Amino acid sequence: MALRITVIGTGYLGATHAAAMAELGFEVLGLDVVPEKIELLSTGRVPMYEPGLEEMLQRHVAGIEGSTGRLRFTTSWEEVGEFGDVHFVCVNTPQKHGEYACDMSYVDSAFDSLAPHLTRPALVVGKSTVPVGSAARLAARLAELAPAGAGAELAWNPEFLREGFAVNDTLHPDRIVVGVASEGAEKLLREVYAVPVAEGSPFVVTDFPTAELVKTSANSFLATKISFINAMAEVCEAADGDVVKLAEAIGHDDRIGKKFLRAGIGFGGGCLPKDIRAFMARAGELGADQALTFLREVDSINMRRRGHMVELAREAVGGGSFLGRRVAVLGAAFKPDSDDVRDSPALNVAGQIHLQGGQVTVFDPKGMDNARRLFPTLGYADSALEAVRGADVVLHLTEWREFRELDPAELGEVAARRIILDGRNALDSAVWREAGWTYRAMGRPKA
Ligand code: UDX
Repeated sequence: MALRITVIGTGYLGATHAAAMAELGFEVLGLDVVPEKIELLSTGRVPMYEPGLEEMLQRHVAGIEGSTGRLRFTTSWEEVGEFGDVHFVCVNTPQKHGEYACDMSYVDSAFDSLAPHLTRPALVVGKSTVPVGSAARLAARLAELAPAGAGAELAWNPEFLREGFAVNDTLHPDRIVVGVASEGAEKLLREVYAVPVAEGSPFVVTDFPTAELVKTSANSFLATKISFINAMAEVCEAADGDVVKLAEAIGHDDRIGKKFLRAGIGFGGGCLPKDIRAFMARAGELGADQALTFLREVDSINMRRRGHMVELAREAVGGGSFLGRRVAVLGAAFKPDSDDVRDSPALNVAGQIHLQGGQVTVFDPKGMDNARRLFPTLGYADSALEAVRGADVVLHLTEWREFRELDPAELGEVAARRIILDGRNALDSAVWREAGWTYRAMGRPKA
């Protein structure tokens, strides 16, 4: 009989994974503890913007006309325990309030809720990003709580999907990493991932701690790459160099590569910032904190970028206070093609200027609802044009395609002053300058 899969936690990761498993042909049952999420998912909709995800869900959610009916959702742990041969745990591990460490309470409670219902042999597969050592601890917990005893086994299978590309990254991953404790677990996971592996995704088999570390080290490397180029941007600014050219030139070296070398206001989102902090905290617990002190610098270079953008904006409005100044902010999501505003550099900059008395108006193509919820006191507009109306300075902070396609001449008609600061080095400076704008980017010469 074909494998039956459950997915526990239906946020970004879980909703995408559940739909992708159904797309690969498995019978899938998704669980969440929030009934509203289950109701929404059961109609083939998701509470976030992720290109292609709703379409994939609707191809499989039971009860939707024309669907395969392979995908269902529930809030019942009992049902999940009975249904699944393989259980993927996809709950989130946010940063602990006021601390660097990661909050494991959702993972722990998922295991504690699931385990008592594992009455027959099953493989529980952790996908959440966790501090190294968690898998070993959770394996022991499973053995203690599951009625199936040793029949309930654990594997660790970190997820590398990027928001905005979640569907493609899940169906065609760069690599599949599995931390296993037995050949049986490896065999089962090879069955689950047979299609992507046949299509070329490398399958890396390792132990628990290495699997956990692959995820945190990959994210640390990416964060380091971004902070490296942002550090070069600081030097370029001091020396009148051009970081965009510099990145292009060093990126031609295959050993360096072109990707993740876009300088600007830095990284944000629900992963990179909290993952590097949790990694430092865990290394400290292990007595290996010296190995990761460089990540402290990576984090502070990154946070400095936001402050630097605020200073550029202050300079643009004449220095001194922002009081009485109108600032248009284009972008709220932490990156384009996402409505996620968690630790968004754009909103952080907007918030700082607002707190210093500036009259800030934000527009984002998809992130408005989330931004309004998080920062209700900022001003919001329904379009880029409306945000720019009357502005003393325009800040381009999330590089949506729609912002690259704006007509600078049209915006120039409504702005109070034609000054644009490009916090993502993504606009065509020549076009803006031709339309009479003062264009200033980060890490590039002024004129
Ligand atoms: C990241 C990892 O890429 C992914 O593998 C992991 O599973 C989760 O964390 P995500 O947070 O979705 O994914 O976004 P990503 O595309 O990595 O971008 C992160 C941040 O870095 C964004 O704020 C983005 O704007 C910024 N960034 C990215 C840069 O500032 N410069 C770059 O060159 C690339």
